[in-house]
Amino acid sequence: MTNLLQANQALAGLVNHLTTAIVLINTNMEIVALNLAAENLFRVSQHQMQLEPIGTLLNLDALLKQQLQDSSKQQQSFTSRDTQIQQANGHRLWVDLSVTAIDDEGSLALEIQPLERVKRLTQEARMTTQQQASSNLVRNLAHEIKNPLGGIRGAAQLLQRELNPSLHEFTDIIISEADRLRDLVDRLIGPQRQTQKQICNIHQILDKIDQLLRAEANGQVQLIRDYDPSLPELLIDANQMTQVFLNVGRNALQALVEHQTPNGHICLKTRIVRHFTIGNICHRLACCISITDNGPGISANHIEDIFFPLVTHRAQGSGLGLSIAQSLIQQHQGLIECDSQSGHTCFNIYLPMEKLP
Ligand SMILES: Nc1ncnc2c1ncn2[C@@H]1O[C@H](COP(=O)(O)OP(=O)(O)O)[C@@H](O)[C@H]1O
Ligand SMILES: [Mg+2]
Repeated sequence: MTNLLQANQALAGLVNHLTTAIVLINTNMEIVALNLAAENLFRVSQHQMQLEPIGTLLNLDALLKQQLQDSSKQQQSFTSRDTQIQQANGHRLWVDLSVTAIDDEGSLALEIQPLERVKRLTQEARMTTQQQASSNLVRNLAHEIKNPLGGIRGAAQLLQRELNPSLHEFTDIIISEADRLRDLVDRLIGPQRQTQKQICNIHQILDKIDQLLRAEANGQVQLIRDYDPSLPELLIDANQMTQVFLNVGRNALQALVEHQTPNGHICLKTRIVRHFTIGNICHRLACCISITDNGPGISANHIEDIFFPLVTHRAQGSGLGLSIAQSLIQQHQGLIECDSQSGHTCFNIYLPMEKLP
């Protein structure tokens, strides 16, 4: 008996560790139980959903409603692959949905595997490889440019000493242009410093960003802070994170100001996310920092390439901000991604939350 009980408990624990969302419903189409993945997917708690109609979780279209009722009555299972479901809040999701009749009374188990996640992981892996290849290319090229630059500058200085002062303006041009090129190349080579992680309060860093952006916005854009106070301290390099948030925040500010967006605002938000996969690792807990603006958005043609070095769609841009942000986030084993449409651009930065020593 004890063994059976233990086995049942182990099974219940196991169901909670699955990445597939599972929802159990009874014949009245009421929710009986949810696993952890379902709670995360629909952002609800098991407790809150107990015996609520399934409609509170999912907007069932007539077809799906009929299929569920038939399944329950006839105790038959069905699977819909690559199908779209709508959450009660209107958000649509592409999923693989399997419905299984689990007892004679007509209770059903809904297994929902969001495809966004699978698609996201494949796309993310592809993008990371491409971006790393192009960053390496740019860095190697920058190193090759930097070496002879020192020589050119030195030779111009020697020449200047020998030249009649009336010709100094030309050597000055060589020297100042060589310096300009060196600065550009240094930025292309990117952060040289090793990441130095310390235990930090991410909200203090964001407060600093809030202050800086407020000062730069000069009253033209509103800044909103929406922090999760339960977020623990994180092991991060505070300077590098400041750089990341500033690069992303400045882009938002520039987009809002340049397009003169009415009621322009930027929101700095933090949340904890559970069971979040970055690369091949599923982190039990991760911190998500979102920087959102209500500006013009990034067109579908551009969104794929904004993280590449030297890609800019602004006249004064260098195209380095997001590429540097991404490489700093990768040094933190994190992930940065962007979701954008007109009037809503959101950069999500995920950082794994390890147990602190
Ligand atoms: N919040 C945003 N709203 C609109 N466009 C954005 C936003 N963030 C980034 N972008 C686009 O991404 C491009 C690349 O950004 P970035 O790498 O920082 O380079 P830069 O700012 O120098 O152009 C920008 O030129 C801009 O077109
Ligand atoms: Mg920028």
